[in-house]
This record gives sequence, structure tokens and C-alpha cells, in this order.
Amino acid sequence: MKSLVILTLLVVACQSSSDKQRRFPDDFLFGAATAAYQIEGGWNEDGKGESIWDYVVHNNPAYIKDLSNGDIAADSYHNYKRDVEIMRELNLNAYRFSIAWSRVLPTGMINNVNQAGIDFYNNYIDEMLKYNITPLITLYHWDLPQKLHELGGFTNPLFADWFSDYARLVFQSFGDRVKHFITFNEPREICYEGYGTDTKPPIVNNTAIGTYLCAKHLVIAHAKAYHMYDKEFRPTQGGQCGITISVNWFGPDTDSDDDKLAAEITRQGEWGIYAHPIFSAEGGFPKELSERVAKKSAEQGYSKSRMPEFTEEEKALVRGASDFFGVNHYSASLTSATEHKVPHPVPSLMDDIDSGTYTPDEWPKSSSSWLTFAPNSLYNALTHLNTRYNKPVFYITENGWSTSNDRGLIDDDRIAYYRAALENVLDLLDDGVNLKGYMAWSLFDNFEWNAGYTERLGLYNVDFEDPARTRTAKKSAFVYKHIVTHRYIDHDYEPEAMIMTID
Ligand SMILES: *[C@@H]1O[C@H](CO)[C@@H](O)[C@H](O)[C@H]1NC(C)=O
Repeated sequence: MKSLVILTLLVVACQSSSDKQRRFPDDFLFGAATAAYQIEGGWNEDGKGESIWDYVVHNNPAYIKDLSNGDIAADSYHNYKRDVEIMRELNLNAYRFSIAWSRVLPTGMINNVNQAGIDFYNNYIDEMLKYNITPLITLYHWDLPQKLHELGGFTNPLFADWFSDYARLVFQSFGDRVKHFITFNEPREICYEGYGTDTKPPIVNNTAIGTYLCAKHLVIAHAKAYHMYDKEFRPTQGGQCGITISVNWFGPDTDSDDDKLAAEITRQGEWGIYAHPIFSAEGGFPKELSERVAKKSAEQGYSKSRMPEFTEEEKALVRGASDFFGVNHYSASLTSATEHKVPHPVPSLMDDIDSGTYTPDEWPKSSSSWLTFAPNSLYNALTHLNTRYNKPVFYITENGWSTSNDRGLIDDDRIAYYRAALENVLDLLDDGVNLKGYMAWSLFDNFEWNAGYTERLGLYNVDFEDPARTRTAKKSAFVYKHIVTHRYIDHDYEPEAMIMTID
């Protein structure tokens, strides 16, 4: 009997050393993410003010594909304990969520604090901490108080002051327990989609300068909040403050110099105008794109470049102002200097970039037009950022896959996507990239912005017909739980029965 035990141990030892099972570090933050407007509901409850999303869905319902809205969404305002129970079922050690600015400051301004809003987030945070789940707070996930939009929102140079007041309230109220703060989620989607096009609230659609003006004010607001945290709060709270940028991968279509330049300019326009001022050694907007916009602006009859400059003082304020680089990553495209071009408004960011992008037919498509399953896209994006920005600390703050609303609980395509992305994470860790955590998007199905409830990205299904908004684990939830719990990826693992429990 004894020899059998020894033999078995030997076999196990040999197997694991020959497999070289690659593991995620024990202190790796493994979690999931959500955003206030997509999950909370309670849009006007207990003193919450109106946001730009509340305003648009109520005044222009056709803007949302299925004419729905986030008035109730997944009703996390009332179901927050169930949310934390799901985190426990999945064995997560982290959870990223956002504060709705207009829930804590109904008009956006600091003179009017809504204590009921502060209480809600305190309860949410305390419930997580009871079970050793590390909360990560996003201060701004797209839901600007409508009153601040009426004053110009991100185009008003005073925006940084309003954001500083709000940030101080968040650090003061929650920073004793929360050690990870993300100022802005996805500047590209805020500035390009919200100000430079008509695709997201506040639908400013100023194609000529909207994106660039917003980009400058956003990174300055970020930097001021970062320095405030650093000086006023870090000495006693000891946490970190960073920003999350959406970084999809844009590689060249061919090896030609023209395609390589087209890919570089595309990367600069898509994420470089937000990342470069903060994470590069030189600071300010990226050089090649700024030069191109300056030249075009002169030709177009402007007295100065449509892309604003940073003063030396502003450059110094922003440069290095982040403890980590949060990356939301989903997809990739190939970039061409000559092919696949579509017409764009003149002038506009896309006209300034002036490239064509496409995804090959063989890359699997999700139910969202912006999300394809591109080979090694997460690895390519992070490897590029790591070299370009001198090895910052990274967190993957979002990554996930979209399916249609009638797909039920069996989501093998989502499982394939997560396994491939997490293999990329292991490759990056092997390379020595300083990657500290991974947040799946999303913990459960939620209001998917312009797509309403027609596109689902959750690990859990939410029944939006049911007043209780019942949450049920999808197959991907069991697979993610297995990875998180065992700290390696078992590609053969299949859940035996779809019954989720807290272990
Ligand atoms: C946004 O601007 C473009 C280009 O100027 C225009 O074609 C489009 O109709 C505008 N959208 C809205 C909603 O006004």
C-alpha cells in the first residue's frame, strides 16, 4: 500500500514537471468588471441626479438599438449582495466597478453631496471586503452629470476642477478601504465617440476638434487627480491611482513601410493621444500625428492646428502621472495605407489618420461589430505598450466576448476566447511584463450601451424580463472559476453539472 502511494506521487511529480504547467501568481488579481450605468438601475432613486446617458435614453430612445435603457438594468442598486455572492461563487479576489458621479454629486458640483449615494457604495465595498475581495474603483465610466454637460463637459477648461472636487470626495469617502483607483475608463470612447462623432452621449459630433480638445482636457484632469491622490491621500491611504485606456491592436496589413506607418498613425489616433502624454518620456501628443494634423489644419484654413498643444508646464504635469496602465483589450484589425478605406467627414480624426482597416474573414466574429477573435491580439498589444512606454505596471481592466441575447447558458465561443486571452497573459508573464491582474468583462449581462440588451458579455446571464433580475451562471463562469481557483488553464476541463456553489 505504501509503495503504491509513493509510486502514485512519483507519477504525479513526473507528469507535472513534464507538462511544465504554467501558473498565474498567487497574488495576481483575478476578477471581473462592470460599470455603474450598465448595472445599477435606480437611475433617479434616493437623490441621484441625471447623467448624459439618462438624458439621451429618455429624450432620444431610438438611439438605443432595442429602445431600451438603463433605468433598471441589472438592478444592482437593490441586488448588490447577490453581486458579491457571484464574486464568491467564482472565487474572485478582485472586482472592478464604477461610481456614478451623479449618484454622489447630483449636479456634478461639490456643494451638494448625496449621502444616500455614498452609503450605497460603502455598503457595496464593505460587502466585498467581508469576503477578502479587493475593490477597484473607476471614477468615470461615461456617465457625466447632465448639468456639467450643459456647461460644455470635457470641452470646458474648468472640467479638471470639477473632476478634482469629485475625485477628492471619492478618495476621502472610500480610500480608507479601496487601494486601486482608475480615473477614466476609455478616453477614446469618451472623446472620439462622445465629442468627435455622434455615436455616444453627449453626441457633440464636432468632428474637427471635439476629440482633440476632449483628449487634452481629459489627460489634464486625470493628472490633477493623480497628483492630488499622491500628495493628499497616498501618505495615509497607501493606494494607487491610474487610468484605463482601450488598446485594440492595429498591425500593418503588409510589411511595406507605408502600411507600417499607417498602423503607427492609427495607433496614435486610437490610443496614443491619451497614452503618450502620460506614459511616454517626451510627453504631449504623439509626434507623427500632431505634425500631420498641423499640416492639414493649415491647408484647411485654420489659424492654428486643430490639435491643441501642451505647454511645457502641462507636459510636466501629465508626464508620469499614473501608478499603472489599465488596459481594456478586445480585438484587433489590420491596417493599410491604401486599401479598405471608407469615406470620413473632413476634417476629422479619421480623416487625419487616413488609413484603411479590416479583419480577415477567418477571424471569428462575435455578436458585436467591434469585437473579433484575433490571434494573439492581447499579447501583441501589451508587448508593444511595454516596449514603447518603458515597462509600466499593467492591469487588464477589461477583456471579454459578446454573444447574442438568445444564446442561453452554453457559450463555448466565449470559453475559447477567454482561454486564448489568458494563454496570452501567461506568455506576457513569462516575458517579464509587469502585469498584476486581469478583470473579465463582464461579471454578468448588462446594458450594452447603444446595443441595449441585444448583445451580452456576462459570465452570468441576467433575466431582464424577471423583476428580480435573476442571475444564472453560464458555462464560461465554471471555466473561469476553474482557472481562477487552480491558477492554470486546463483546456480539457468541462463542468460536470451546471450547478454553481460557493466552495
Ligand atoms: C455628425 O456629423 C456628420 C459629419 O458632419 C454628419 O454627417 C452627421 O449627420 C452628424 N450626425 C448628427 C446626428 O447630426
